[in-house]
Amino acid sequence: RIIYVNGRYLPYHDAKVHVEDRGFQLADAVYEVIEVSDNSLVDATRHLTRLWRSLSELSISPPMSEPALCHVMGQTIRRNRVRNGLVYLQVSRGESPRDFLFPDPPVPPTLVCLARATIPAQVDQRAETGIHIITMPETRWKRCDIKTVMLLPACLAKQQAHAQSASEAWFVDAEGLITEGASSNAWIVDRSGRLLTRPLDNTILPGITRRTVMDTAASLGLVVEESPFTVAEALDAAEAFITSATNTVMPVIMIDGQRISSGTPGPLCRQLRRSFARVAE
Ligand code: PDD
Repeated sequence: RIIYVNGRYLPYHDAKVHVEDRGFQLADAVYEVIEVSDNSLVDATRHLTRLWRSLSELSISPPMSEPALCHVMGQTIRRNRVRNGLVYLQVSRGESPRDFLFPDPPVPPTLVCLARATIPAQVDQRAETGIHIITMPETRWKRCDIKTVMLLPACLAKQQAHAQSASEAWFVDAEGLITEGASSNAWIVDRSGRLLTRPLDNTILPGITRRTVMDTAASLGLVVEESPFTVAEALDAAEAFITSATNTVMPVIMIDGQRISSGTPGPLCRQLRRSFARVAE
């Protein structure tokens, strides 16, 4: 595999970042995961817009222009012959002796781009069955709208889910409302067929797939309400699902060991997954 690091396409084992990179020492870095479908990046413009916003919230200068970054992504995909899979982009504030304060003058940001193949049939197979999730108290910080690499709470949550034979964890805030998954947005379909997902604010990541699913739902004439829901409402829902770049729409059939409705992927969820309109670029 070939990985892009700061201007160079390197063999896998040479793709290294310095130990005093602020991404490594301080999680002072942001990232994006973009799906590659049939050789094309899915929703690339929305992902780059979000990356630019994350960078701006942390006052990190963009490492290059958007077209230049698209070129790097395209090259990385081609050099790795990825037809279906994902691109991972990470930008850190750069390499500088450890200090909480930003380096002054600023140092060049570190940019990493890698592409990995996935097997779409495996994801489709998981979607046929549906996944199990657990819920747990929210442990993350108050700026979950920024896509930073500060992912330890998400790792701990996923590990706990795995230990309970589940594949995702939904965080629950102090009011008992679900925020989002460790690496996905959370959705339910209520008993009157309305799709519910939490409104955007600092407590969740503005998911690109969430946005695209809202558009898809509108085109299918489905009602989407951006309103938060409780664990009890999720357990009582007609359907539940998660959205993320790597899963698109993934049905949830069990929450905290309790079956959702009949315990099989629901009809609206299946319809949304089928119709999920990829904006390939
Ligand atoms: N995760 N919420 C969180 C906390 C996420 O980490 C992600 C994505 C999402 C869904 O966002 P999108 O639809 O833009 O992928 C929501 C990526 C896939 C990851 O960390 O691997």
